[in-house]
Amino acid sequence: MRVLVIHGPNLNLLGEREPAVYGTQTLPQIDAQIAELAKELQLEVRSVQHNSEGAIVDELHAARGSYDAVILNPGAYTHYAYAIADAIAAIGTPVIEVHLSNIFAREAFRRKSVVAPVCAGTIGGFGADSYLLALRAAAHKI
Ligand code: DQA
Repeated sequence: MRVLVIHGPNLNLLGEREPAVYGTQTLPQIDAQIAELAKELQLEVRSVQHNSEGAIVDELHAARGSYDAVILNPGAYTHYAYAIADAIAAIGTPVIEVHLSNIFAREAFRRKSVVAPVCAGTIGGFGADSYLLALRAAAHKI
């Protein structure tokens, strides 16, 4: 079973980016935790990070037929990127939306997710553990 993890914009700066909100772990450290759990769950996992919306859309299209589930943190695109929502709806592969922070407890513009209605589920607010919970959810779903 293959799972693709897509980290969206600005997540390459984790560790130094607003640590009070996003924690002190770097993206490679989070990816290492994901890889360790994937091994335990006997899942094959690949993690990628893209800052641009089009690259995320391309990645979702390429996942069609080659991955059993996608874990996606769309970053700020969550709140307005209809092209990403359309890509999720188009591919038919289950996508789990993930956030490090609890977007519903933050600024008004973050309280809306345009991708949530087309995702299998949403996990947020647990820091890096949000990804690990999503991986467990993916393992159950597929
Ligand atoms: C985020 C929340 C978004 O609102 C924000 O723009 C991010 C990160 C999160 O993981 O908490 O870049 O997706």
